[in-house]
Amino acid sequence: MVSMVDFATVTPDVIAELEDIVGADYVHTADPELLIYGRDETEDLQYKPEVAVRPESTDQVARVMELAYARGIPVTPRGAGTGLSGGALPVFGGILLSIERMNKILEIDEENLMARVQPGVITGVLQETVLEKGLYYPPDPASNGSCMIGGNIAENAGGPHCVKYGLTKDYVLSLEAVMPNGQVFRTGGKLRKDVAGYNLTQLLVGSEGTLAVVTEATLRLIPAPKYKRILLAAFDSLDTAAQGITAVYRSRITPAALEIVEQAALKAAEEHLGRPVPYSDAEAQILLEVDGFDEEAVENDLMKVGEVLMEVGALDAMLADTPAKERELWSVRKCLGEAVKKQAAYVECDTAVPPSKVPDLLRGVREVAAKYDIRQISYGHAGDGNIHVNVLTDNPDREEREKKLQPAIEAIFDVAVSLGGTITGEHGVGCAQSRYLKLCRDPVALATMRAIKDAFDPKGLLNPGKVLEAKVPPSLPVAGA
Ligand code: LAC
Ligand code: ZN
Repeated sequence: MVSMVDFATVTPDVIAELEDIVGADYVHTADPELLIYGRDETEDLQYKPEVAVRPESTDQVARVMELAYARGIPVTPRGAGTGLSGGALPVFGGILLSIERMNKILEIDEENLMARVQPGVITGVLQETVLEKGLYYPPDPASNGSCMIGGNIAENAGGPHCVKYGLTKDYVLSLEAVMPNGQVFRTGGKLRKDVAGYNLTQLLVGSEGTLAVVTEATLRLIPAPKYKRILLAAFDSLDTAAQGITAVYRSRITPAALEIVEQAALKAAEEHLGRPVPYSDAEAQILLEVDGFDEEAVENDLMKVGEVLMEVGALDAMLADTPAKERELWSVRKCLGEAVKKQAAYVECDTAVPPSKVPDLLRGVREVAAKYDIRQISYGHAGDGNIHVNVLTDNPDREEREKKLQPAIEAIFDVAVSLGGTITGEHGVGCAQSRYLKLCRDPVALATMRAIKDAFDPKGLLNPGKVLEAKVPPSLPVAGA
């Protein structure tokens, strides 16, 4: 393990070598590119790499890594920069390695129901492409219109449809990756079954770009369900809405999505979108989707969950009866992250608990907010027990803000952990949550993670300052933050 003082800097001869490897057009050494590559969607953090490179092949990635390793320069891999835990931020400068040019869908194998893709493929593009063949790639983070498969793999990204279909990890069959020292390896092939040795595929999934750089992925596809129906239910309390989750589980219907949104988030969405959104005066909403291959069965499921939610105490419910209405309901849900961000400086706690504990989590969060006198806005993937709790403050001073929010954030994570939960369900630890990792992982697990990191990256050069490392240099000032 090395500390930041041990990192070498990027010298002109390193730039020349990088230009040689990827071509001068794809090596960036000035603003605004460096500033753009130094941000992601996490709160208001800004760093600056010394150089940004955009390789187009595994071989180029390998050569960049080999060079950086020989020189002792940190490398931060980056997809689309849509991450919410600072995973792609070049906190120690060095080389920013963008995989955006490696954006080819290499193969859609309709006989084995698999796709082989480069990491820079946009998730939504893959989804649309396979859908044309009647196939489905379900993991759908809110940013699926712009996020990339490589970033999704790094973060083990989720989204609303995980409740029925699982996370990114459930669709990654094997990977090609580049070690920090530039060596290339494959973790398997186009196999549905393969138990030969340790499962390096799943070790890399969710490793947040700290172990190796993924350069190709073989992904599982499933037949696309033919029918889906969406229901929106309004509640007069968040607590009642949260009771709806277990009621749906008890009904033995597996929804394709089961989201909860509290009123403050709906109001933020209205402001953000500049138009009214359905049931925005309700204290809380549940957005629920059912899908399948038999139209009548899907309809029956919809009616049954509708009844279940009414029995729990829903005030009202509406069905999306046209594709336009479905898109409208999803667009409201998917804009919440951006909408809340516009409200004030915020920090997002990506809590997850067993789904039956969501009512306790939401109650605990409100108690914390009252105790620490902070504003909070919660919404999320209730069916997965994954609630995005956003804590907000209007204080313009970054240090003051941190002082005020810090104890509240820790208290929120304490509530989640005391309910058997975790500090992050789908956004990752990155550099934004690393100081809290010890709240939910014991010392033996942490030491094992450290040994794994050291085995892949003995010089500590790949994506330093993330996951296991709680100390990072302060962010550069951000305009308006
Ligand atoms: C969402 C993002 C924030 O669920 O994960 O909208
Ligand atoms: Zn989410």
